[in-house]
Amino acid sequence: MAEELLRKSYQIHGRDFDKAGETASDIKDILKKIGVDAGVIHHTVVIAFEAEMNVVMYASEGTVTFVFTDEDIRLEIADEGPGIEDIDLALTEGYSTATDQMREMGFGFGMGLPNIRKNADEFNIESEPGVGTKVSAVVRLDASA
Ligand SMILES: Nc1ncnc2c1ncn2[C@@H]1O[C@H](COP(=O)(O)OP(=O)(O)O)[C@@H](O)[C@H]1O
Ligand SMILES: [Mg+2]
Repeated sequence: MAEELLRKSYQIHGRDFDKAGETASDIKDILKKIGVDAGVIHHTVVIAFEAEMNVVMYASEGTVTFVFTDEDIRLEIADEGPGIEDIDLALTEGYSTATDQMREMGFGFGMGLPNIRKNADEFNIESEPGVGTKVSAVVRLDASA
């Protein structure tokens, strides 16, 4: 059994573009201080940033839970929001329902969920339309590549 060494939760507010990215950057700082492999940090930060942005762009409220164990890094992003009707479609590269305004800010290329999946050693997404979405991802400490 993996031993949990550190746990931190972050509250994310929908539409709060000013603070968008702060969670991912805090997680990056923590992992750098611990001295985690750069590849592992990269995978984790991509996942955290994309999931955090999805809460900001599409949901009303969310929580990012970051857990560091002696074997892996676990991220769970749970939100209250519209949910996702068709998860396979949402996971398709290039598919996005982002508004023009979001695209002008440089978001909404439809690569967030595909990149979360690619960067994770384990990935799961569950969503209930009208209720919310939960994304879980694990990055192993020994499998950077
Ligand atoms: N947390 C979420 N809540 C509701 N819908 C979401 C959420 N995350 C993603 N989606 C939906 O899935 C689509 C694809 O997401 P993603 O791959 O991150 O691309 P992008 O964020 O660039 O649109 C989004 O456009 C949106 O329709
Ligand atoms: Mg996205």
